[in-house]
Amino acid sequence: MQTMVQADNLVKVWNPGPAQTIAVDHATFSVQTGTFTVITGKSGCGKSTLLSLLAGLESADEGTIIIDGRILERSEKQRAGVRRESVGLVHQFFQLIPELTIRENLQIPFDLNGLPLDEFFVKELIRQLELEGLEDRYPHQLSGGQQQRAAIVRALAIQPAVVLADEPTGNLDRLSAQKVMKLFRQVQRRLGITVIMVTHDLDLARQADRILYMEDGRISGFGEQDAA
Ligand SMILES: Nc1ncnc2c1ncn2[C@@H]1O[C@H](COP(=O)(O)OP(=O)(O)OP(=O)(O)O)[C@@H](O)[C@H]1O
Ligand SMILES: [Mg+2]
Repeated sequence: MQTMVQADNLVKVWNPGPAQTIAVDHATFSVQTGTFTVITGKSGCGKSTLLSLLAGLESADEGTIIIDGRILERSEKQRAGVRRESVGLVHQFFQLIPELTIRENLQIPFDLNGLPLDEFFVKELIRQLELEGLEDRYPHQLSGGQQQRAAIVRALAIQPAVVLADEPTGNLDRLSAQKVMKLFRQVQRRLGITVIMVTHDLDLARQADRILYMEDGRISGFGEQDAA
C-alpha cells in the first residue's frame, strides 16, 4: 500500500511565550492511500490545528509532512500549491465565500487549478447531498447544514487525492450525517480518494477504517477496524 500522508514529529505552538498553547505535540502517524481515517478527541485537543498543518494552511514549528508525495515547505506559496492540487478541505466553519453563490463557490477550486468543472460529477454530488435548486443562492441564504453540505461538495468536486474534513457533520441531523458518511465512503471506494475526517461522533467513527485518537496535542492511540 502507498502512503498518502506521512507526518513525523509535528509540533505546533500557538502564541509562543508564557501564554503559549502546544496544540500539536510531536504527532507522528501515516495514512495509507485510499483509506478512511477518523481523528477524534476532546474539544481543544488539537484536531483542527493538526488538519490545518496537513492542509498547509499553517506551517509546523517542528517536524515534517509529506502529502501525496510532496513535502510541505516553509514557503506559504509552496504549501498553497500542494493544497490546490492534492487537497480538498472542509473547514469546521465552512468558509464559503459570502459574496459568491454556491455555484460560484464550487467553481473556485477549478479556476485555481485551471481545470474545467466536471458538470456531471458535481451534479451527482449536489444530488446526493440534497442541494438541488440551491445553486444560485448565496451562503447566507442557506441553513447551517446546507452550507456545510455545500462546503463538502466544494471539497470533493475536484476529486482531490485527499479530503481533510473538519467535523463535516457537526451541523447535521443523524440522517444527513449518515448521507455525508456514505458519500465519503463512495468517493473513497470508487475513486480511491483518501479521507481524513475529524468527528466527535462515535457512531460515525466506527464506520472508518481507522481511528486516530488525540489527547492534549498528542496522538494517544490508533484503532484499526473492519469497517462494514
Ligand atoms: N489561532 C489560534 N491561536 C491561538 N490558540 C489557538 C488557535 N487555534 C487554536 N488554538 C488553541 O489550540 C488548542 C487546540 O485547538 P484546536 O482548534 O486545534 O482544537 P480542536 O481539537 O479542533 O477542538 P474542537 O473539537 O473544539 O474543534 C486549543 O487550546 C485552542 O484554544
Ligand atoms: Mg476543531
